[in-house]
Amino acid sequence: MIDLRVSDLPLPDVLKEFIIKERGITELYPPQEEAVRKGIFDGKNILMCTTTATGKTLMAELAMVNAVLTRGVKAVMAVPLRALAYEKARDLRIYEKLGVRVAVTTGEYDKEDAWLTNYDIVVTTYEKLDSLLRHRADWLRQVGVLVIDEVHYINDDKRGPIIESIIAKVRALGLNTQIIALSATVGNAEDIAKYLEAEVVESRWRPVPLREGVYYDGVIYYSDGDRAVIKDLGNPVLSLVIDTLLNGGQALVFTNSRPNTVKLAQQIAQYICNYGVKVIEPRELSRVSSAVLEASQSRLLGEELAKVVKCGVAFHHAGLDMDVRSIIENSFRDRLLKVVVATTTLAAGVNLPARRVIIHEYRRYEPGVGMEELPVMEYKQMAGRAGRPGLDPYGEAILIARGEDEVDYLMRNYINAEVEEVRSKFLTDRNLSTHLLSAIASGYASDMEGVFRFVSSTLGYLQGGFDKNVILRDLLRRRIEDVINFLVESGFLERVDDRVAATALGSLLNNMYLDPYTANIYIRGLRAREETSDLGYTHLIVQSPEVPRLRVRRGEFDDYLELVLDNWDYLLIKPPLTKDEIENGEYEERELEDYLSTIKTSVMLLEWADEVSEDELYRKYDVGPGDLRVYSDLMNWLASAVARLASTLGMKKHAERLEVLRWRLTYGVREELIELVVNLEGVGRARARALYNAGFRSIADIANADPRAISSIRGFGDKLARSIIEQARKLINEGRVIRYEPTRKREGGTDKQVFKKRGTLLDYL
Ligand SMILES: Nc1ncnc2c1ncn2[C@@H]1O[C@H](COP(=O)(O)OP(=O)(O)OP(=O)(O)O)[C@@H](O)[C@H]1O
Ligand SMILES: [Mg+2]
Repeated sequence: MIDLRVSDLPLPDVLKEFIIKERGITELYPPQEEAVRKGIFDGKNILMCTTTATGKTLMAELAMVNAVLTRGVKAVMAVPLRALAYEKARDLRIYEKLGVRVAVTTGEYDKEDAWLTNYDIVVTTYEKLDSLLRHRADWLRQVGVLVIDEVHYINDDKRGPIIESIIAKVRALGLNTQIIALSATVGNAEDIAKYLEAEVVESRWRPVPLREGVYYDGVIYYSDGDRAVIKDLGNPVLSLVIDTLLNGGQALVFTNSRPNTVKLAQQIAQYICNYGVKVIEPRELSRVSSAVLEASQSRLLGEELAKVVKCGVAFHHAGLDMDVRSIIENSFRDRLLKVVVATTTLAAGVNLPARRVIIHEYRRYEPGVGMEELPVMEYKQMAGRAGRPGLDPYGEAILIARGEDEVDYLMRNYINAEVEEVRSKFLTDRNLSTHLLSAIASGYASDMEGVFRFVSSTLGYLQGGFDKNVILRDLLRRRIEDVINFLVESGFLERVDDRVAATALGSLLNNMYLDPYTANIYIRGLRAREETSDLGYTHLIVQSPEVPRLRVRRGEFDDYLELVLDNWDYLLIKPPLTKDEIENGEYEERELEDYLSTIKTSVMLLEWADEVSEDELYRKYDVGPGDLRVYSDLMNWLASAVARLASTLGMKKHAERLEVLRWRLTYGVREELIELVVNLEGVGRARARALYNAGFRSIADIANADPRAISSIRGFGDKLARSIIEQARKLINEGRVIRYEPTRKREGGTDKQVFKKRGTLLDYL
């Protein structure tokens, strides 16, 4: 077979020239060629299930740009994670040279984002795309290509049904949209293709050979029967890493926890620096190291990382600032950093020069479950980061065995195993109620027949065999009736005969992207009291399963329990036991574990809102700047959702207090800084505090300030000082200042009352 040349593709000349020149790609890989033959550039639905590194994402890019240039339509690319969305958007921006406008949007589920009308390609997350479809943004009608990257996420409990809901909505809109779905790890491609009404491209071919093996006791056992004896340095990961470096490659290590990434990185760094392994360039690395320190919001975490970076090694996890993560990834790409030890943050979709991928642990801790083995799917994704085209001549993925019999076990269960089938989770009660409410509230279904039609366009329907069996279909209709009844009883829907419509409350949920189960908890909590303390509110907000919870350690258990007892009346959601039972010690610790972790999470968030420093939060809670960013976005969303619920339910006091708390939890500031942080760009909690302490307490103060007075404050330069004065003046001239005056002390539990034992929040623990 002769490879298809880029110059022969049915694409505009400018695009072909661009690919050849800018990307250096002249010929297509066989699976890519098959996608062309099956119509990826002719608007056909395509499911590409081909091995990692076969250029799936590239094909989707070309199809999108082609559609924009030749048909004048828009294209949307949906990915599973926010960080991936930003990365893809950055990659796609090179097409701006062809006049293609690229935008990225994530979060802020209550917005319709009309500004996106001005862009040709929109990169976003599944959740955000679902929320845009809920708002029925006008520009969606112009979308001609929809790319679902990493489509095996359909298997995910939460994200899967969101993908199915997106597809069902696109179908209900009757749009003539081409769907391109991509994944390297789908065990049942035919199933998914049938569901998507797509042609399937399936292949195991890989442009760069990938060898897989298991390491045990100084030996790598490859799946092809070969063996390699390497120098045993006593520590398996270290031995494998050093072996790679001495052979001129770089290594990417995956492990199962953040502390493990740090520990392994330190061991490797120590070895490289102490034994003078001659692969690093100290001068360049010390530059990277300073950049890391500079970019890290937490000095402690930054120093920990900067130290190993000097030896050419880094750890990488979601606790790090986004900027710090980019520095690490770029320096690894530039081959300054030789080793990166990561959690799953780098497991999918990325192109890095990793000659050898090492999987340190094939088990990880799942809260509430215990240690669990990784799915084959995840292993294959991690393994696929090794040997990327243009970066390495070959790749290796090595699992580590802890005993001799594990060699065989890993070979059988990972390397030679088939990836799992993707199974829909759409038809669980929770998912059905979430997505049916959304279908009705956003007008994709208005009667029971419409609702059924919506469900029948999901993968869950197909996989449940409902299309083939009348009896099953009747059962499903009854399930749907039950779910609709639940939504009616909850006050989210109204039903007259077979017509269904959302109530004001139901519409609010839909617009705020709040699921009915969580909304019910919120409403129950709000009804428990007329007003409560900041702890009571924050604890209510963190009831959403979206909020990552901090685990309570053994030694902390009693402190948090005491906190619960002290604040009993103010807590809107009570523990699963009575006060008497707790006071009399009639419980087992595990009965209270979950509850206390929501308390601990709330306490941490309140300390953040009380301006406790990033360093302190990292030291006390292991919460890094990257986590704070996630919490901040969640609070902005969920706290305002609860505030809106309260105001829709006519609970004014709740609504007022929640609104204040929302800003505090979002920006990590006390009340008096709210006006500064919400109005000014480039002013976060630290700078706002500095301004305030220097006497600049409102936007008006700043508008009237002498630039020199501000530029002399720590953390401000001339440029920033001028910029914020200009911003402040402009806001005032245009009457756009969001005014905020701190409120008086309130009833119903101020922080003082809440933490009466030892005074302030800070002193408490
Ligand atoms: N035909 C080609 N010739 C040379 N390089 C290519 C070709 N197609 C893609 N590439 C390059 O190969 C690399 C991998 O491509 P891409 O990221 O699209 O793979 P993928 O199949 O999406 O991988 P994954 O499953 O890991 O997400 C990229 O750097 C891309 O630019
Ligand atoms: Mg990809």
